[in-house]
Amino acid sequence: MTLNSLPAWSALQSHYDAISGERLRDWFAPQNDTAPTRAERLTFDGGGLTIDFSKNRITDATLELLIQLAEQAGVTKRRDAMFNGDIVNITEERAVLHTALRAQSPDAPFHQQVQAEKAKMAAFADKVRDGSWTGYSGKRIRHVVNIGIGGSDLGPKMVVHALHHLASKELDTHFVSNVDGADLYNVLEQIDAEETLAIIVSKTFTTLETMTNAHSMRNWFIQQGCPEDQLSKHFVGVSANPAEVVKFGIAKENVFEMWDWVGGRYSLWSAVGLSIMLSVGPKNFDALLEGADQMDRHFREAPLAENLPVLMGMIGIWYRNFFGSQSDLIAPYSQALHYLPSYLQQLEMESNGKSATLDGGMVDYPTAAVIWGEPGTNGQHAFFQMLHQGPTLIPIDFIAVLTPEHPLVDHHAKLLANCFAQSEALMLGRTLEEAKKVAGPGKEALATHLSFPGNRPTTTIMLDALTPQSLGALIALYEHKVLVQGTVWNVNSFDQWGVELGKILGKVVEADITAASVDASKHDSSTSALIERARKALKR
Ligand code: F6P
Repeated sequence: MTLNSLPAWSALQSHYDAISGERLRDWFAPQNDTAPTRAERLTFDGGGLTIDFSKNRITDATLELLIQLAEQAGVTKRRDAMFNGDIVNITEERAVLHTALRAQSPDAPFHQQVQAEKAKMAAFADKVRDGSWTGYSGKRIRHVVNIGIGGSDLGPKMVVHALHHLASKELDTHFVSNVDGADLYNVLEQIDAEETLAIIVSKTFTTLETMTNAHSMRNWFIQQGCPEDQLSKHFVGVSANPAEVVKFGIAKENVFEMWDWVGGRYSLWSAVGLSIMLSVGPKNFDALLEGADQMDRHFREAPLAENLPVLMGMIGIWYRNFFGSQSDLIAPYSQALHYLPSYLQQLEMESNGKSATLDGGMVDYPTAAVIWGEPGTNGQHAFFQMLHQGPTLIPIDFIAVLTPEHPLVDHHAKLLANCFAQSEALMLGRTLEEAKKVAGPGKEALATHLSFPGNRPTTTIMLDALTPQSLGALIALYEHKVLVQGTVWNVNSFDQWGVELGKILGKVVEADITAASVDASKHDSSTSALIERARKALKR
């Protein structure tokens, strides 16, 4: 059965035709918004988070139909299959068990294996953090350089920055991902080899960018005076391919394992999160896992109609598939969550940016939206103009942290005020009549510029404070939103074949840029000309 033929789908289509012209400001008008109010009916708690969905273009009937769609599309079944360790990633024939990495229950799949690796990480992290792990000249480690890309970079980088207020003052954590030498070079300029630990993180341990940076880092240590037989004091590896790590030259005891049932973009909970543990310590790392586990339990246990990931996912589908929205804005009103949007770009777009259905057909409806974002209030002074007055509908997730993690408390009222005022303004808008009053007599043309369409949907996600627990729950919330949407769209959220072709052709092009001579007929005229320019610039 295709998605469009599900009864709830056609019911939602008719429902859309009936309510899409209605206005949020009318629904919120005091005479219409009687007890229990929209805010009361449409605000839900789960996993330690609170989400206000009331400024979305939904009614109680919309939610009922969206939940029916989730049921008819098999969200519950697929959720349970994932938690149980069934082979839900069918194209790679793998289970998907990032939830097992944070499960507190001893009955969870792979529990002993997971705990043993975590204990090994903690023993290592303690030694680095207390200064007993020293470099080749006997000095303690002061710089950690995480070399990885995609899931081996974005998650740990986002969390390390988010929890900066809990970080060890003795250690600076750096992230190098890009094959652009500038990325590594800029970090090398800031660090001292005697005091540096490199973590090479790659699930496959074959990724071009990571291996190039890892080899350059190794050469740098030797150039800086580290004897080859002392390199093991400066390198650890994280991978599901330990044999390759050892081949690279990392001592066997310095290899931390992850497993093929952990997807790269779902892996920060595994040894891939070693940089997090080094920065904030094993206890805080555990708290991050506990927060995620709390959200996992909410996702498994709460009725669909009160289930945060289900509601987030289904409301997203409402805009993407019925309103035709193209992108979702993530607006954390938290500087510490600066890297959340880029982390979510991989999570959502690499997971659900697909056209092949699970049974090998093709979708005839849009799947993942473009994810983008910046922390507030910065975005307000850059692109919010378009959100308020552009013709495009862009649903927004506002993320508000209610208490600050720093002592500048007076900033916080201003920060939260801006967050809440933006969602109010986007919802209310300003009618032409109201704008005319603002413009003043005889200024009709100006009034058009001063009017705001309003009716712009927003969701406000609230964290009481930015703690490892609340952050863990927030990340797990989005992970499960992806599962919900992927299930409805009937795509495999856990593979990423779309990155393969570029990788294959990249190797061919690289060989042609560096070769003594090139066969121009091998490529199209555009690519050949580009290669020729690179050869000239690099004097090949
Ligand atoms: O090319 C995409 C990808 O495979 C991502 O899915 C992954 O997170 C990233 O590359 C890095 O892969 P690895 O951890 O194997 O180096």
